[in-house]
Amino acid sequence: MTDTNGQDGATQTATTPSGAKGQAMVIFQPSGRRGTFDIGTPVLDAARSLGVYIESVCGGRGICGRCQISVSEGQFAKYKITSATDHLSAFSQKEQRYASKRDLATDRRLSCSALISGDLVIDVPDEGQVNRQMVRKAADTRHIDRDPATQLCYVDVAEPDMENPLSDADRLIKALEAEWGYENLTLDHPLFVSLQTILRKGNWSVTAAVFEDKGHPVITGLWPGFHDRLYGLAVDIGSTTIAMHLNDMLTGQVVASAGVSNPQIRFGEDLMSRVSYIQMNPDKQPELTKTVRDAIDTMIGQVTEEAGATREEIAEAVFVGNPVMHHLFLGIDPIELGGAPFALTVSEGITHLARDLGIGINPAGRIYTLPCIAGHVGADAAAVTLAEGPHRSEETTLVVDVGTNAEIILGNNTRALAASSPTGPAFEGAEISCGQRAAPGAIERVRIDPETLEPRFRIIGVDLWSDDEGFTEVAGEIGVTGICGSGIVEVIAEMYLSGVISEDGVVNGALQEKSPRIIANGRTFSYVLWDKGETVISIAQTDVRAIQLAKAALYAGVKLLMDKMGIERPDSIKFAGAFGSFIDPKYAMVLGLIPDCPLDKVEGVGNSAGTGARMALLNRQHRREIEQTVRAIDKIETALEKKFQDHFVNAMAFPNKVDPFTNLRQSVTLPENNQASGGDDAQGSAGRRGNRRRARRAS
Ligand code: FES
Repeated sequence: MTDTNGQDGATQTATTPSGAKGQAMVIFQPSGRRGTFDIGTPVLDAARSLGVYIESVCGGRGICGRCQISVSEGQFAKYKITSATDHLSAFSQKEQRYASKRDLATDRRLSCSALISGDLVIDVPDEGQVNRQMVRKAADTRHIDRDPATQLCYVDVAEPDMENPLSDADRLIKALEAEWGYENLTLDHPLFVSLQTILRKGNWSVTAAVFEDKGHPVITGLWPGFHDRLYGLAVDIGSTTIAMHLNDMLTGQVVASAGVSNPQIRFGEDLMSRVSYIQMNPDKQPELTKTVRDAIDTMIGQVTEEAGATREEIAEAVFVGNPVMHHLFLGIDPIELGGAPFALTVSEGITHLARDLGIGINPAGRIYTLPCIAGHVGADAAAVTLAEGPHRSEETTLVVDVGTNAEIILGNNTRALAASSPTGPAFEGAEISCGQRAAPGAIERVRIDPETLEPRFRIIGVDLWSDDEGFTEVAGEIGVTGICGSGIVEVIAEMYLSGVISEDGVVNGALQEKSPRIIANGRTFSYVLWDKGETVISIAQTDVRAIQLAKAALYAGVKLLMDKMGIERPDSIKFAGAFGSFIDPKYAMVLGLIPDCPLDKVEGVGNSAGTGARMALLNRQHRREIEQTVRAIDKIETALEKKFQDHFVNAMAFPNKVDPFTNLRQSVTLPENNQASGGDDAQGSAGRRGNRRRARRAS
């Protein structure tokens, strides 16, 4: 590109190390994309031709300042070039004007104005640095390459002319097509009402929000004059909580967040009880839909207030959720998801009009729901897949999102499989006698001395261990209140490692002679973790069984997918969700909750579903990516797989009856096979309960 388009201050230089006369090599960081360009090409144009996204609202007028870049100076042997700031044209009048009115750091240039005059390594700054903005840490802060479906476009519109009697809408569309390169642009109907006023108020200059994703571009928002604020929502509707992040669409940063308990809980604690409620009260489904939409509306009010934004400035929203939440949000009856064959009404990613769903953002705003993978594996799992990218890696990665149903994805860049396993709520502290949700006072870390069987532990909200000096005083203010998911995993793993329970999960009653912490409960035994005042926290045989059932269900599902994939173990494991953030990989593996794998390749990845929703919000290519990936995923229905039962029974043992866990054994000394003396609630009854649970799940 040699046309300088009237850019002022251009410097034309001679031959460059890139070889061809009149051309220069430009590398954009951090993406590393590079190309050779004619001297005089605006940096912004060069970036666009390489697919490097740099924001521009004003169309190169030097008003918005969104297109800032800087130059990395020095010799770059890798590219065989020398990059220097004077390989850009001199500071232009536009840049001088912008710098005099707004802050422009000395090393920054406006890429719409700076022209290439030699070889360059260009840094595209993290968007948050371009405009100082409050950034919320609650959301995952990983960098997301942007290619948003909605773009703000500032444009001058011709005034009405009797000689050329085009309507306001036609003149607006003509100006946008001419200046921004759109084709077949249309105006969303509700904007006709305000168009006349906005054009005149802006003195024939307006900023339009143009949405373009699959199909013709549409003007979805309009503001008089220059307007450089645009927002988008990423929302994860969980059955327990709803999490919302308001993103600045021009920087990609999260500027406000909100979280609430899902008010549908009053219709049923878990998903299946909500489906049962609708089965028993068929006319109530709209009420559940309204309940969740009302909660979302309240949250929109909170995040807009916090960020100083308006609802009209929210041009897009992306929603993810498990299949039942997904269907209820869209107003679809979820009862088919309550029983075999668990048929989804719709599975693909869909774009809706905000006004059709009654979501209180810009009425012409677009709402995108990620595709659901299968009847038990929802749009939340699709979002996790998008965020963690097993399909982008040569390594075979296992991604598990542990909830009442564990969603399991196993794959690499050639194949991916998905399944869900009915883990039940044990990992969330339910079904455990002293279990509770993660909150101050809950035991989250446990160690048991293998000689004395004395425990030490930590509770949420206190940094000291229970045997540290001062623990009682500090903990006294909070109280030791129960045991949360990560604590349950650790205490049962430690009970196994110290011999309190056998590999079959039986609490060894014979140890009563050795430790007062082993106590009888009828024909079985418990291990007492804490006994102070009126608070007794103990792990009963039934608690061990509940965890065995949950972990066996998860492992059996994972093992089925590994069988289908033809592998013995994954190369890496990622735990998504809150449970995965706090769980210690070593203890998860000691329990046999996850398959054997090098311990340093197991990690918690936090709120991946929220990150995946943000990725789809900020980059429409990610929508195509996950749509294609979900189509290609092999969906495995565990209830139909004969081997599931065998895997389940083997997985009842710690860590597993048949799988060797060789990586684990290199870091942890596992007990020799030990048979405990501990009452009659042994393997068989646990297996039978597991069978009953799965039978219920499939019925
Ligand atoms: Fe607006 Fe460069 S695009 S200042």
